Amino acid sequence: MENTEKKKVVFSAIQPSGTITLGNYLGALKNWVAMQDEFNCIYALADLHTITVRQEPAQMRKNIIDAYASLLACGIDIEKSIFFIQSHVHTHAELAWILNCNTQFGELSRMTQFKDKSVKHADNINAGLFTYPCLMAADILLYQADYVPVGADQKQHLELSRDVAQRFNGLYGNVFKVPDGYYPKHGARVMSLQDPTRKMSKSDENVNGCVHLLDTPEQIMKKFKRAVTDSEACVRYAEGKDGVNNLMAIYGAVTGLTNEQIEHDFAGKGYGDFKTAVGEAVVETLRPIRERYEQYIKDKAYLEECYRKADEIALKISSRTLNKAMKKVGFIL
Ligand code: TRP
Repeated sequence: MENTEKKKVVFSAIQPSGTITLGNYLGALKNWVAMQDEFNCIYALADLHTITVRQEPAQMRKNIIDAYASLLACGIDIEKSIFFIQSHVHTHAELAWILNCNTQFGELSRMTQFKDKSVKHADNINAGLFTYPCLMAADILLYQADYVPVGADQKQHLELSRDVAQRFNGLYGNVFKVPDGYYPKHGARVMSLQDPTRKMSKSDENVNGCVHLLDTPEQIMKKFKRAVTDSEACVRYAEGKDGVNNLMAIYGAVTGLTNEQIEHDFAGKGYGDFKTAVGEAVVETLRPIRERYEQYIKDKAYLEECYRKADEIALKISSRTLNKAMKKVGFIL
């Protein structure tokens, strides 16, 4: 942890809302792991965000512990990074309230994710779903983060966080660092294996579309063998070949090979061979993660020790920012 002071601060969070997918891993988590040496990384399980959609309590408790163990298994290293549980750190909900009062109805109304989720969860368009970006802004701003690695779907929320921070600073003086998005060059966007025009998602109605982090080798191979391709029977990256492009992106992400190398290696071979190779490469990437997960999930006491320690540090850091913001607004501390 030498040079901690000089390192830029990275903040990101993931919702523990079910199983983690290969898409989450290749698109985000792998990058979180890689950033740990260069940056001062602060990561959270955004469990407060999760209840914007109705959750079954027992399942939610299980999902939180599973996600914590899974992220450790992916390589989040508590010796290098702070990895805490959002709901354990009360400053998040508190700053979120202040930011709610400094964010306009019109701004939140423009959020495309809110519009999408309102359609998807038409029976529960709750206020939390609407103000969710303010909670996300609180997460980020509490830690004075320099960079926030997020996927394209969170870009609009990050922009809103920047706007809110700038406006708050303008009104009350410099309280928040205005964060920048961090979009890794090699962050793979993994699509459904069954409908490669759509992002890989755990809510895919076709179970073969989505590979989960903890799938067995047999399940993984089966899903790749059934992956949708096209009738050209040529492994090459091209417009309109969504299925093959997706398999190439996955294969490239797990092997480090470029598209040219992949095309060269599979010249003259059929899709059967290619799908087997992609499946096997994914199996080998996920095998050590699944094995580590099995160890961690058995040791609840160790997991608790990890998050309690991190929660405490997160509270300490975030309290400084919260207190400053509260004073500026006019609260008596
Ligand atoms: N909203 C993010 C998502 O659903 C998760 C999240 C919560 C987050 N707080 C954050 C991401 C802060 C980055 C920074 O994916």
